[in-house]
Amino acid sequence: MDSYLSDDRIKIDLKGKIDAENASTLSGEINAILTDAPDKIPVFDASDLKYISSSGLRVLLDIKKRYKDEIFIIDVSPEVYEIFDMTGFTGLFSVRKKMRELSVDGCPVLGRGGSGVVYSLDKDTVIKVFYDRVKYPDIEREITVSKELFVAGVPTAIPYDIVRVGESYATVFEYIDATTLYSLLLEDQNNYDLCLKVYTDVLCLLRKTIVKSDKLRNYDAEFMNKCREVEKILPPELSALIKEFAEGITPGEGLVHGDYHLNNVMYRDGNPMLIDLGTIGTGSELFDPARSYYYLYLYKYGISPYMAFSPELSEKFYYDHIDLLYGDRSETERREIITKIKVISYISGLYYAKEYLNEPMIKAMYDDLLVDLDEQLKVVPK
Ligand SMILES: Nc1ncnc2c1ncn2[C@@H]1O[C@H](COP(=O)(O)OP(=O)(O)O)[C@@H](O)[C@H]1O
Ligand SMILES: [Mg+2]
Repeated sequence: MDSYLSDDRIKIDLKGKIDAENASTLSGEINAILTDAPDKIPVFDASDLKYISSSGLRVLLDIKKRYKDEIFIIDVSPEVYEIFDMTGFTGLFSVRKKMRELSVDGCPVLGRGGSGVVYSLDKDTVIKVFYDRVKYPDIEREITVSKELFVAGVPTAIPYDIVRVGESYATVFEYIDATTLYSLLLEDQNNYDLCLKVYTDVLCLLRKTIVKSDKLRNYDAEFMNKCREVEKILPPELSALIKEFAEGITPGEGLVHGDYHLNNVMYRDGNPMLIDLGTIGTGSELFDPARSYYYLYLYKYGISPYMAFSPELSEKFYYDHIDLLYGDRSETERREIITKIKVISYISGLYYAKEYLNEPMIKAMYDDLLVDLDEQLKVVPK
């Protein structure tokens, strides 16, 4: 029996057929390995496992009882995965299917984003190769929620599977023969009205879409949490106002993209497509506009993460978008909404900035955010 050590895990290979014939020998061998490495949690490598019967499943179950932590069974073939799935073991262990291995050598780059590089794999499919810093559970969530949203009718690329490209993880999606709104606008400012309408329509569609899934982020809860963290470091008067503000945010059932910007919406011939669903969740409809407002705010510091037009054009686009979103509201209501958006955006900004106060630019931004937050909290509608 082969086993390998890592920091806190020990990898144990499961091979061939495991059934009543060899289950007790296997159990003895695994126990010997685990006794020699008492602090390690087992990770079972099933790449060479062909079959496992109930006797084999019992061996795993006995081991599971000893550990509180998640136990992984990795590189599982589709046939063996079916056994784990049928018997409910996928609910007890973290079972990961064996991934296809693909190469991107010679594949043209279609785009780059914050989490990876997207290549054209063939004429129908693309592959997004993630940067190493992106964690596996986030990659898994992106593909799972993309499937759920696709099925729920959100216009998005058909998601396939998670694969390996060398040491990196990657996801395979349908190729969308369209252009990002960012490129459309950059190419020709005559596309302004079209981009604005598509950008707003897609967000409205998301807000109306209800998807029940435990994989979706809960932006209402996350925001409450951010507020609590930020409250701890602010003067008491400001903290009290934040608390009151946070409690006044009406939770939302609809979808929040979480990273809604012009590079994540594509368009061609009347058909919009939303991509990059890794951050999608549910929550108040103010969160997407608040995040885009934050991108706008960052311009002051020379950071233009996604809307790399002139600050004037970006600002105009932003406010035209808000006007379209809330076109049916009175002027006063619209002003109130913008105030709330700003407060959410400043609180989120402070939440991130507080970790990097030793960097002069972030510290300057932090100080500005405090002043701006203070100002808006005084006028925010109760
Ligand atoms: N399915 C697709 N078809 C065609 N182009 C795509 C597709 N998915 C992504 N792209 C291109 O790659 C860019 C980055 O993809 P995205 O999923 O947003 O990555 P990230 O998570 O890194 O932001 C997009 O802005 C777009 O230009
Ligand atoms: Mg993106």
